[in-house]
Amino acid sequence: MSDRNIPYSEYLEAKSSVDDRSLSRSVRDAFLELIARRAKDCAENRAIRFLDAGTGTGAMVRRVIAWVDNLQPENRPVVSSYTGVDADPESLALATTATELLLRSLGFEVGTENLDTGTRLAGRRGNDLVETQFFLGDLATPDESWALPGFYHFLTAHAVFDLFPLENAVAMLKKLLVADGALYATINYDGLTELIPCYRDRAFEERVLAWYDRTMDERPAVAMTGAGRPRDSLGGSELHPAGGSKSGRKLVEVMLQAGFELSALGSSDWVVAPKNGNYPDRERIFFAKILSLIHNEAMRSPVFDQTEVERWYDSRRLAIDRSELVLIVHQIDLLAARRDNTAAAGS
Ligand SMILES: C[S@@+](CC[C@H](N)C(=O)[O-])C[C@H]1O[C@@H](n2cnc3c(N)ncnc32)[C@H](O)[C@@H]1O
Repeated sequence: MSDRNIPYSEYLEAKSSVDDRSLSRSVRDAFLELIARRAKDCAENRAIRFLDAGTGTGAMVRRVIAWVDNLQPENRPVVSSYTGVDADPESLALATTATELLLRSLGFEVGTENLDTGTRLAGRRGNDLVETQFFLGDLATPDESWALPGFYHFLTAHAVFDLFPLENAVAMLKKLLVADGALYATINYDGLTELIPCYRDRAFEERVLAWYDRTMDERPAVAMTGAGRPRDSLGGSELHPAGGSKSGRKLVEVMLQAGFELSALGSSDWVVAPKNGNYPDRERIFFAKILSLIHNEAMRSPVFDQTEVERWYDSRRLAIDRSELVLIVHQIDLLAARRDNTAAAGS
């Protein structure tokens, strides 16, 4: 199978070990402290509610379930509910299956309920209850099945803000939070991609990588689903372009302007490198897919000679096959709390 045909859901699953390693530890710890504080304040048996926007295969939902489960019992909510929303049904099917497997591996007994809106899982272990549901939905046109105003205590958005016009996305998500709820936004691309060692024509590769960034910046009104279908993306326009290649730094500014207070900020750079002559886990698939996305954009570009692009791609693809290439991508994680009291409902 050519790298171009690697299903997006498979790419997302291959990406998860890279993300696990890359997430900022300090921002994650601050997120877990906020959860623990809320769990202590929460009346017995009241759920802490999480929403993961652009959940894909639900990797972030599973991560948060596992982190919370690992907290000391006094810092853990007895009841927690996780909602994921994404526009790609194929990814969502995987999300449900993988979350059920995780819950079982943590010792939960899992009940499933098939609803019109998707499968709901209820995991029970003693007094602990963990509920999850993944919704097929469009962040651009939030609907009441999942977009409940003032409802969620925590929102997560992992590797998604580059796709959306930031002001609109932040304003929409903010409405879904309780008055003092928080947004944990992770893996926000921030304008630097490097391949090491240098290509023989370094200036050419720099232009190819810069072109890829530019294509992210010039996606004003369209976020792509995993399947590559164009989506109306939260009313993006030339006035409100997608977060694009500098979504990390822009997001910080947009969050502050939107009335959030920063709780933690850190870098979450991807570093994909061979270890003892091999890439770990499924990271070769991940790396090959990233390279093919960059290649596709360069091939579509009017500014490059296609033969030169093919020569560059073949050489870099071979370097991945030989486990010789290293990828570094700069990204930012952010945790911010809502600081006004305009949520539609209480916590
Ligand atoms: C880079 S992926 C990140 C997925 C997941 N958070 C992860 O990192 O594993 C971006 C996700 O946004 C979803 N997406 C794009 N446009 C969307 C829209 N308008 N509404 C809902 N989801 C959307 C895609 O289907 C894809 O799963």
